[in-house]
Amino acid sequence: MIDLNGRKAVVTGGTRGIGRAIVLALAGAGADVITCARGDGEPAQSLARELKDLGGDHAVLKADVAEAADVARLAEEARTRYGTVDVLVHNAGVISHIPFGELPLAEWNRVIDTNLTSAFTVLQSMLPVLRDGASVVNVGSRVATIGIPMRAHYTASKAGLIGLTRSAAKELGSRGIRVNVVAPGPIETEAEVPAAVRERYQKMIPLGRLGAAEEIAGAVLFLASDLSGFVNGETLHVDGGI
Ligand SMILES: NC(=O)c1ccc[n+]([C@@H]2O[C@H](COP(=O)([O-])OP(=O)(O)OC[C@H]3O[C@@H](n4cnc5c(N)ncnc54)[C@H](OP(=O)(O)O)[C@@H]3O)[C@@H](O)[C@H]2O)c1
Repeated sequence: MIDLNGRKAVVTGGTRGIGRAIVLALAGAGADVITCARGDGEPAQSLARELKDLGGDHAVLKADVAEAADVARLAEEARTRYGTVDVLVHNAGVISHIPFGELPLAEWNRVIDTNLTSAFTVLQSMLPVLRDGASVVNVGSRVATIGIPMRAHYTASKAGLIGLTRSAAKELGSRGIRVNVVAPGPIETEAEVPAAVRERYQKMIPLGRLGAAEEIAGAVLFLASDLSGFVNGETLHVDGGI
């Protein structure tokens, strides 16, 4: 079992899907966790209840990582609540499926802003709060280095995340801060997967199934812990061998 007792974590986009599994895995391992999402409805409220039941000093904030003021508020909450932060997971991300020739610039910008630019603003804002030796994990995607039709904006954002991670790892290493990517393959979340898509993925993935959000959280736990103390600038694919 990975023990993160006493560690302080910040996770963006933690109310649903993979982010929620990451928040609950970190809290389950003993860490205190602040997370955020744009919405403050049922997913946020039920997560807050689950975290309360687990015990610890947790918070679920309404904050949009694509908004500079919200990112600053998230970092300020981490500073006032925890003083310093040991683990930063940038998980918030959005996707859409649009043929390249029809992709509107506004949609390109929305996806790049949420998935990539926010990784820069969140990490830069958190820099004074991150303790020396902290672990930063950016949630990327398996498709970043493969490409996939109708998702040029999405793959570009996730490929950019790898470059950001590599450079940040080199620059922040002098403070002992590690920066890595976890790149999920197709993962089962609350989102509906059409039967034909599921069947295609099952054929492509040697393990014959989609991944579970908890299996991405497991990789994040490893990177958050001292077990991965010499893993830096890496992209860890968690994709069933697709
Ligand atoms: N699911 C997969 O198969 C898969 C595969 C590869 C990579 N990934 C990556 O894994 C991450 C999580 O994916 P997911 O499938 O779990 O997504 P999801 O189910 O749509 O959940 C996304 C979470 O992020 C929050 N969020 C979205 N935009 C945000 C913003 N601008 N500011 C703050 N929070 C925001 C959402 O809450 P609100 O909507 O309330 O803001 C929600 O809590 C993403 O980076 C995604 O690209 C997923």
